[in-house]
Amino acid sequence: MRFIVVEDYESLSRKAAEFIGQEIISNPSMVLGLATGSTPLGTYRHLVEDAKSGKLDFSRVTTFNLDEYIGLPPSHEQSYSSFMWRHLFSEISIDPARVHLPLGLFEDAEAACAQYEKLIEQAGGIDLQLLGIGNNGHIGFNEPDDKLGARTHIVRLTEDTIQANARFFEKESEVPREAITMGVGTIMQAKKILLLASGWSKAKAIQQTIHGEVDTEVPSTVLQMHRDVTIIADFEAASLLDLSEVYICLKEYQPPRE
Ligand code: PGA
Repeated sequence: MRFIVVEDYESLSRKAAEFIGQEIISNPSMVLGLATGSTPLGTYRHLVEDAKSGKLDFSRVTTFNLDEYIGLPPSHEQSYSSFMWRHLFSEISIDPARVHLPLGLFEDAEAACAQYEKLIEQAGGIDLQLLGIGNNGHIGFNEPDDKLGARTHIVRLTEDTIQANARFFEKESEVPREAITMGVGTIMQAKKILLLASGWSKAKAIQQTIHGEVDTEVPSTVLQMHRDVTIIADFEAASLLDLSEVYICLKEYQPPRE
Protein backbone atom coordinates (compact mmCIF):
# COMPACT_ATOMS: atom_id res chain seq x y z
CA MET A 1 0.00 0.00 0.00
CA ARG A 2 1.35 3.39 -0.92
CA PHE A 3 0.10 6.23 1.19
CA ILE A 4 0.32 9.88 0.21
CA VAL A 5 -0.67 12.67 2.55
CA VAL A 6 -1.40 16.05 1.03
CA GLU A 7 -2.29 19.28 2.69
CA ASP A 8 -5.87 19.78 1.68
CA TYR A 9 -8.72 18.79 -0.60
CA GLU A 10 -7.47 20.84 -3.55
CA SER A 11 -4.03 19.16 -3.48
CA LEU A 12 -5.70 15.78 -3.17
CA SER A 13 -7.86 16.48 -6.22
CA ARG A 14 -4.92 17.65 -8.30
CA LYS A 15 -2.76 14.70 -7.32
CA ALA A 16 -5.55 12.18 -7.99
CA ALA A 17 -6.24 13.70 -11.43
CA GLU A 18 -2.50 13.54 -12.23
CA PHE A 19 -2.42 9.89 -11.16
CA ILE A 20 -5.41 8.97 -13.34
CA GLY A 21 -4.11 11.13 -16.20
CA GLN A 22 -0.77 9.27 -16.17
CA GLU A 23 -2.60 5.97 -16.46
CA ILE A 24 -4.64 7.21 -19.43
CA ILE A 25 -1.55 8.59 -21.15
CA SER A 26 0.32 5.31 -20.75
CA ASN A 27 -2.69 3.24 -21.86
CA PRO A 28 -5.21 5.32 -23.88
CA SER A 29 -7.66 2.42 -24.13
CA MET A 30 -7.61 1.61 -20.43
CA VAL A 31 -10.57 0.41 -18.39
CA LEU A 32 -11.21 2.91 -15.61
CA GLY A 33 -13.38 2.17 -12.59
CA LEU A 34 -15.08 5.29 -11.25
CA ALA A 35 -16.72 6.39 -8.02
CA THR A 36 -19.37 8.91 -7.01
CA GLY A 37 -19.70 11.01 -3.83
CA SER A 38 -18.27 14.38 -2.84
CA THR A 39 -14.66 13.23 -2.68
CA PRO A 40 -13.93 12.68 -6.40
CA LEU A 41 -15.65 15.91 -7.50
CA GLY A 42 -12.44 17.96 -7.48
CA THR A 43 -10.61 15.16 -9.29
CA TYR A 44 -13.27 15.14 -11.99
CA ARG A 45 -13.03 18.93 -12.30
CA HIS A 46 -9.29 18.63 -12.98
CA LEU A 47 -9.77 15.74 -15.42
CA VAL A 48 -12.34 17.84 -17.32
CA GLU A 49 -9.89 20.77 -17.46
CA ASP A 50 -7.13 18.48 -18.73
CA ALA A 51 -9.44 16.97 -21.36
CA LYS A 52 -10.57 20.42 -22.50
CA SER A 53 -7.01 21.69 -22.77
CA GLY A 54 -6.09 18.67 -24.91
CA LYS A 55 -3.79 17.08 -22.30
CA LEU A 56 -6.02 14.03 -21.91
CA ASP A 57 -7.96 12.02 -24.44
CA PHE A 58 -10.85 9.92 -23.14
CA SER A 59 -12.09 8.80 -26.55
CA ARG A 60 -10.82 5.23 -26.14
CA VAL A 61 -11.25 4.92 -22.38
CA THR A 62 -13.88 2.48 -21.08
CA THR A 63 -15.47 3.19 -17.69
CA PHE A 64 -17.31 1.15 -15.09
CA ASN A 65 -18.88 2.80 -12.07
CA LEU A 66 -18.93 1.09 -8.71
CA ASP A 67 -22.56 1.34 -7.82
CA GLU A 68 -26.05 2.77 -8.25
CA TYR A 69 -29.13 3.30 -6.07
CA ILE A 70 -31.93 0.84 -6.61
CA GLY A 71 -35.22 2.34 -7.71
CA LEU A 72 -33.86 5.51 -9.31
CA PRO A 73 -33.99 5.71 -13.10
CA PRO A 74 -30.75 6.96 -14.73
CA SER A 75 -32.52 10.27 -15.45
CA HIS A 76 -33.23 10.93 -11.73
CA GLU A 77 -31.22 13.91 -10.49
CA GLN A 78 -29.71 11.90 -7.63
CA SER A 79 -28.95 8.75 -9.59
CA TYR A 80 -25.25 8.03 -9.90
CA SER A 81 -25.70 7.95 -13.65
CA SER A 82 -26.88 11.59 -13.62
CA PHE A 83 -24.03 12.47 -11.26
CA MET A 84 -21.43 11.02 -13.61
CA TRP A 85 -22.85 12.66 -16.71
CA ARG A 86 -23.17 16.01 -14.93
CA HIS A 87 -19.66 16.06 -13.45
CA LEU A 88 -17.58 14.16 -15.99
CA PHE A 89 -18.95 12.38 -19.03
CA SER A 90 -20.84 15.26 -20.65
CA GLU A 91 -17.74 17.48 -20.26
CA ILE A 92 -15.24 15.17 -21.96
CA SER A 93 -15.22 13.46 -25.36
CA ILE A 94 -16.03 9.93 -24.30
CA ASP A 95 -17.83 7.30 -26.34
CA PRO A 96 -21.18 6.72 -24.52
CA ALA A 97 -21.00 3.05 -25.58
CA ARG A 98 -17.88 2.73 -23.42
CA VAL A 99 -19.56 4.18 -20.31
CA HIS A 100 -21.05 1.64 -17.87
CA LEU A 101 -22.97 1.96 -14.64
CA PRO A 102 -24.98 -0.77 -12.98
CA LEU A 103 -28.70 -0.20 -13.60
CA GLY A 104 -30.80 0.55 -10.54
CA LEU A 105 -33.99 -0.58 -12.27
CA PHE A 106 -34.37 -4.18 -13.38
CA GLU A 107 -36.75 -7.11 -13.27
CA ASP A 108 -34.26 -9.77 -12.37
CA ALA A 109 -31.65 -8.67 -9.82
CA GLU A 110 -29.47 -11.73 -10.23
CA ALA A 111 -29.36 -11.34 -14.01
CA ALA A 112 -28.59 -7.60 -13.73
CA CYS A 113 -25.65 -8.31 -11.38
CA ALA A 114 -24.32 -11.16 -13.53
CA GLN A 115 -24.60 -8.99 -16.64
CA TYR A 116 -22.49 -6.23 -15.05
CA GLU A 117 -19.78 -8.71 -14.10
CA LYS A 118 -19.83 -10.09 -17.63
CA LEU A 119 -19.39 -6.64 -19.14
CA ILE A 120 -16.35 -6.00 -16.93
CA GLU A 121 -14.89 -9.35 -17.90
CA GLN A 122 -15.52 -8.73 -21.62
CA ALA A 123 -13.72 -5.40 -21.33
CA GLY A 124 -10.67 -7.28 -20.04
CA GLY A 125 -11.07 -6.31 -16.36
CA ILE A 126 -10.50 -2.97 -14.66
CA ASP A 127 -7.05 -1.42 -14.97
CA LEU A 128 -7.48 1.29 -12.35
CA GLN A 129 -10.34 1.50 -9.86
CA LEU A 130 -10.98 4.83 -8.14
CA LEU A 131 -12.54 4.54 -4.67
CA GLY A 132 -13.91 6.85 -2.02
CA ILE A 133 -14.42 5.51 1.49
CA GLY A 134 -17.45 5.70 3.76
CA ASN A 135 -17.15 6.95 7.34
CA ASN A 136 -17.85 3.32 8.25
CA GLY A 137 -15.15 1.97 5.91
CA HIS A 138 -17.46 0.96 3.09
CA ILE A 139 -16.00 0.77 -0.41
CA GLY A 140 -18.49 1.03 -3.24
CA PHE A 141 -21.62 0.16 -1.30
CA ASN A 142 -20.02 -2.84 0.41
CA GLU A 143 -21.27 -2.06 3.89
CA PRO A 144 -19.82 -3.42 7.16
CA ASP A 145 -21.21 -6.89 7.76
CA ASP A 146 -20.20 -10.28 9.04
CA LYS A 147 -19.63 -11.30 5.44
CA LEU A 148 -18.99 -9.35 2.24
CA GLY A 149 -20.40 -9.97 -1.24
CA ALA A 150 -17.66 -11.00 -3.63
CA ARG A 151 -19.30 -10.03 -6.92
CA THR A 152 -21.79 -7.40 -8.06
CA HIS A 153 -24.78 -7.74 -5.77
CA ILE A 154 -27.67 -5.94 -4.09
CA VAL A 155 -27.09 -4.41 -0.65
CA ARG A 156 -29.20 -2.78 2.04
CA LEU A 157 -27.65 0.53 3.01
CA THR A 158 -26.75 1.04 6.67
CA GLU A 159 -28.26 3.88 8.72
CA ASP A 160 -24.81 5.58 8.69
CA THR A 161 -24.75 5.65 4.91
CA ILE A 162 -28.38 6.76 4.59
CA GLN A 163 -27.70 9.65 6.95
CA ALA A 164 -24.42 10.58 5.22
CA ASN A 165 -26.16 10.62 1.82
CA ALA A 166 -29.32 12.42 2.98
CA ARG A 167 -27.63 15.75 2.22
CA PHE A 168 -28.24 15.17 -1.47
CA PHE A 169 -31.99 14.57 -1.07
CA GLU A 170 -34.77 16.84 0.20
CA LYS A 171 -35.68 14.43 2.98
CA GLU A 172 -33.87 11.49 4.52
CA SER A 173 -36.90 9.33 3.72
CA GLU A 174 -36.15 9.87 0.01
CA VAL A 175 -32.73 8.20 0.18
CA PRO A 176 -33.04 4.77 -1.47
CA ARG A 177 -32.57 1.96 1.03
CA GLU A 178 -30.87 -0.40 -1.41
CA ALA A 179 -28.13 -0.25 -3.99
CA ILE A 180 -26.41 -2.43 -6.57
CA THR A 181 -22.65 -2.48 -6.11
CA MET A 182 -19.54 -4.16 -7.43
CA GLY A 183 -18.48 -6.73 -4.85
CA VAL A 184 -15.27 -6.67 -2.89
CA GLY A 185 -13.88 -9.38 -5.17
CA THR A 186 -14.73 -7.29 -8.24
CA ILE A 187 -12.87 -4.34 -6.73
CA MET A 188 -9.92 -6.46 -5.62
CA GLN A 189 -9.54 -7.80 -9.15
CA ALA A 190 -8.73 -4.32 -10.49
CA LYS A 191 -5.05 -4.17 -11.42
CA LYS A 192 -4.56 -0.92 -9.51
CA ILE A 193 -6.64 0.85 -6.90
CA LEU A 194 -6.62 4.54 -6.00
CA LEU A 195 -8.51 5.45 -2.82
CA LEU A 196 -9.21 9.07 -1.90
CA ALA A 197 -10.12 10.33 1.56
CA SER A 198 -10.74 13.87 2.68
CA GLY A 199 -11.85 15.39 5.98
CA TRP A 200 -11.94 14.52 9.68
CA SER A 201 -14.95 12.23 9.25
CA LYS A 202 -12.75 9.77 7.33
CA ALA A 203 -9.87 9.71 9.82
CA LYS A 204 -11.01 6.66 11.78
CA ALA A 205 -11.77 4.66 8.61
CA ILE A 206 -8.35 5.52 7.16
CA GLN A 207 -6.60 4.53 10.37
CA GLN A 208 -8.40 1.17 10.33
CA THR A 209 -7.75 0.67 6.61
CA ILE A 210 -4.02 1.00 7.13
CA HIS A 211 -3.36 -0.22 10.67
CA GLY A 212 -6.45 -2.31 11.51
CA GLU A 213 -6.92 -6.04 11.20
CA VAL A 214 -8.58 -7.24 8.02
CA ASP A 215 -12.20 -7.30 9.13
CA THR A 216 -15.45 -7.46 7.15
CA GLU A 217 -16.89 -4.95 9.64
CA VAL A 218 -14.49 -2.42 8.04
CA PRO A 219 -14.63 -3.44 4.38
CA SER A 220 -11.76 -1.16 3.28
CA THR A 221 -9.32 -3.25 5.37
CA VAL A 222 -9.42 -5.93 2.65
CA LEU A 223 -7.38 -3.53 0.52
CA GLN A 224 -4.36 -4.49 2.65
CA MET A 225 -4.36 -7.71 0.64
CA HIS A 226 -4.19 -5.99 -2.77
CA ARG A 227 -0.76 -5.62 -4.29
CA ASP A 228 -1.17 -2.18 -5.88
CA VAL A 229 -3.16 0.26 -3.78
CA THR A 230 -2.43 3.96 -3.48
CA ILE A 231 -4.26 6.02 -0.88
CA ILE A 232 -4.25 9.79 -1.17
CA ALA A 233 -5.55 11.47 1.96
CA ASP A 234 -5.60 15.06 3.07
CA PHE A 235 -4.14 16.04 6.39
CA GLU A 236 -7.48 15.76 8.19
CA ALA A 237 -8.24 12.26 6.92
CA ALA A 238 -4.69 11.20 7.86
CA SER A 239 -4.86 12.83 11.30
CA LEU A 240 -5.13 9.58 13.31
CA LEU A 241 -2.16 7.90 11.65
CA ASP A 242 1.32 7.65 12.95
CA LEU A 243 2.87 9.49 10.03
CA SER A 244 6.34 8.19 10.82
CA GLU A 245 5.08 4.74 9.84
CA VAL A 246 3.65 5.59 6.46
CA TYR A 247 5.02 6.85 3.21
CA ILE A 248 4.60 10.56 2.91
CA CYS A 249 4.88 12.52 -0.26
CA LEU A 250 7.20 15.10 1.21
CA LYS A 251 6.78 17.66 -1.50
CA GLU A 252 3.07 17.87 -0.76
CA TYR A 253 3.22 17.41 2.98
CA GLN A 254 3.18 20.50 5.14
CA PRO A 255 3.20 20.04 8.90
CA PRO A 256 0.52 22.19 10.57
CA ARG A 257 1.74 25.54 11.83
CA GLU A 258 2.13 25.96 15.61
P1 PGA B 1 -18.12 10.88 -0.04
O1 PGA B 1 -18.59 9.37 -0.04
O2 PGA B 1 -17.08 11.00 -1.10
O3 PGA B 1 -19.37 11.66 -0.36
O4 PGA B 1 -17.60 11.16 1.33
C1 PGA B 1 -17.64 8.36 -0.16
C2 PGA B 1 -18.29 7.02 0.02
O5 PGA B 1 -19.32 6.93 0.72
O6 PGA B 1 -17.77 6.03 -0.52
